[in-house]
Amino acid sequence: MEKSFLKKLYLKDRVERINALVSARILPEKDAERLKKGSLLPQETADHMIENQIAAYELPLGVARPFLIDGQDYVVPMAVEEPSVIAAASSAAKIISLAGGFQTDIQNRTMIGQIALLDVPDMAEAEKILYVHKEEILKQANESHPSIVKRGGGAKDLIVRMIKADETANTPPFLVIHLHIETLEAMGANIIDTMVEAVKPVVEDLTKGRALMGIISNYTTKCLATAVCRIPVSLLERGIYSGAEVRDRIIEACKFAIADPYRAVTHNKGIMNGIDPVVMASGNDWRAIEAGVHAYAARSGQYRSLSNWTMADNGDLIGNLTIPLPVGTVGGSIAVHPGAQLAKRILGYQNAKELESIIVSVGLAQNFSALKALVTEGIQKGHMRLHARSLAMSAGAKGEEIRAVADKLKQRKNMDLAAAKAILEEIRSGLL
Ligand code: MEV
Repeated sequence: MEKSFLKKLYLKDRVERINALVSARILPEKDAERLKKGSLLPQETADHMIENQIAAYELPLGVARPFLIDGQDYVVPMAVEEPSVIAAASSAAKIISLAGGFQTDIQNRTMIGQIALLDVPDMAEAEKILYVHKEEILKQANESHPSIVKRGGGAKDLIVRMIKADETANTPPFLVIHLHIETLEAMGANIIDTMVEAVKPVVEDLTKGRALMGIISNYTTKCLATAVCRIPVSLLERGIYSGAEVRDRIIEACKFAIADPYRAVTHNKGIMNGIDPVVMASGNDWRAIEAGVHAYAARSGQYRSLSNWTMADNGDLIGNLTIPLPVGTVGGSIAVHPGAQLAKRILGYQNAKELESIIVSVGLAQNFSALKALVTEGIQKGHMRLHARSLAMSAGAKGEEIRAVADKLKQRKNMDLAAAKAILEEIRSGLL
């Protein structure tokens, strides 16, 4: 990667940006030609992706400046509509890269499939029997999907959970079997669903219970990704605040999100501002990631901050983020959507673990940017600067007018739609 070509991308126009990515050896020429033409998803492909398709609903795809992750630089593609997200990611990436970058830890990629049983006559006995017949159940699961087994994956373990009846919630007792399945490079929903459905009759027979369903669990507590960064206070100074003050206020902001669910939701939304756009650009299922992440945030019984910010012995600020991140590099729409393939080439990741490392780091970066702004000048100033173009477009500005209206708007005290409309009128009538 030739990073020198990537400076001040935001000052270039779209074609110049694409050319810069080619010069920096991030984007192959062929991709650049296609991007210059516009849309990524051919109508014919879209038509085969879903039922009753009538159009492709497009989002802007941008790139965040290089992230230094585990010693390697990545320019990160992000599909997102919120104006400030890529700017915030880029600004955090710059500071954290200067501080040595992100270190990540991706331990397992084990997915979970559930079979829920009702009306089990003797729960304790059923549990015992299921463990006695564990190998047989796993064999049955693996025989239903031989290709994943051939590649080294498959159902590797099984656990049984007993969920008691709850009078207050009006729920019956459930006996739940979890299959622990290695889906290798895939997120694996189809593999998992095939396996759990295949073992339903076997476990019904063994327990004398009634299988209600077999389905993947998107709460992937055995597929966790962690990113850590460590930032010296010399890189944290902002406006009237010293680096040490910014550090302390970020730590306090994190404690606020640990203590209060109302704040935690917004804090975690800020983290997902980084995660979702990369998950989407990579062609993965962002609803699955969202659902799992928020359940993980509530694992203590209270919904809390997903990240943790603390002070190191030498005074550095340490950021830490762990989330369930069952993304894949194959399967689903990844092979089908040209945008996902493009993201793969831009990121140049080799496997799903590397993709997890990138995504969790972007989440932590986004959280850092939000907290840093919130505890210093507030987010509105930066947001409104970036929002100016959207306002200009909403006011009806076209082509060159958009930049002209946005530039004038940034100088106004009241940056709103009414001001944008007034500026546009003045420009059109030659007053500005
Ligand atoms: C806005 O999209 C995200 C923030 O609200 C996140 C946060 O409050 O931490 C700025």
